[in-house]
Amino acid sequence: MGRKSVESLAGRWALVTGSTRGIGQQVALGLAQFDCNVVVHGRTLKNAKETLGLLREYPVETAVVAGDLGTEKGIRAVVRGVERGPGHIDILYNNAAIQNQWQSVWEIERATWQDAFDVNVFALIALTNAFAPGMVERGYGRIINVTSGIRDIPHLAPYSVSKAAVDKYTADLAAELEGTNVLVNTVDPGWLRTDMGGPNADHDVTTVLPGALVPVLLEDNGPSGERFAAQDYTWSD
Ligand SMILES: NC(=O)c1ccc[n+]([C@@H]2O[C@H](COP(=O)([O-])OP(=O)(O)OC[C@H]3O[C@@H](n4cnc5c(N)ncnc54)[C@H](OP(=O)(O)O)[C@@H]3O)[C@@H](O)[C@H]2O)c1
Repeated sequence: MGRKSVESLAGRWALVTGSTRGIGQQVALGLAQFDCNVVVHGRTLKNAKETLGLLREYPVETAVVAGDLGTEKGIRAVVRGVERGPGHIDILYNNAAIQNQWQSVWEIERATWQDAFDVNVFALIALTNAFAPGMVERGYGRIINVTSGIRDIPHLAPYSVSKAAVDKYTADLAAELEGTNVLVNTVDPGWLRTDMGGPNADHDVTTVLPGALVPVLLEDNGPSGERFAAQDYTWSD
């Protein structure tokens, strides 16, 4: 993909959840390369400082919101922060997620399943409910839900089952949004060296670009309900 071969995102606002580090930070920087204004998000404002500093390299506007997506209060704080800041979101990049501790599948408690679903599924749905109707009204929106290509690892079932739920929710949402130019797709980033992916992962975190941006840069009324594998794409220049 060429660095500027596609439509600029100038004037658009993106919320990237979990953009204090890891994949979300790369996505935030990648969006800024396409002139997109970015709302950085993490559980605390302090955590967001590094990404905000990196974004200063780009001629874009930034905002920051903090909130634990595992709580209703945290989700409300994120929505309110957007309302008080840019006021609306054109691109919702649902990236933040948690992985459960490695544990025998027989011993995983309900609370562990609940935590994974609270952050990885229910918060993603709540943010979509908060921002998608405005996108429909304005006739433009891109929603990207980060999924996983994780193989069958029962010890991590709460995490992987939550991602399966994200996949199905994305398909249902695509049907709901058909014809609105609000496109909703998933991205499988590949196995990357981040805090979550660990030091033995296959790829450096920077390899999530440019693929992670492909479902953002789709043409109007382009594909929706699709799965994009970030590792399928490289910069062409
Ligand atoms: N790394 C991989 O190999 C891999 C593979 C497949 C899919 N993925 C997916 O890619 C996405 C990003 O993964 P990553 O590897 O970049 O993860 P990471 O390094 O662990 O970063 C997680 C991000 O999410 C935020 N976060 C964590 N818990 C949160 C909570 N309760 N509320 C709000 N924000 C929270 C963190 O912010 P703070 O800590 O600052 O609050 C941080 O910015 C996830 O959806 C993950 O499932 C990753």
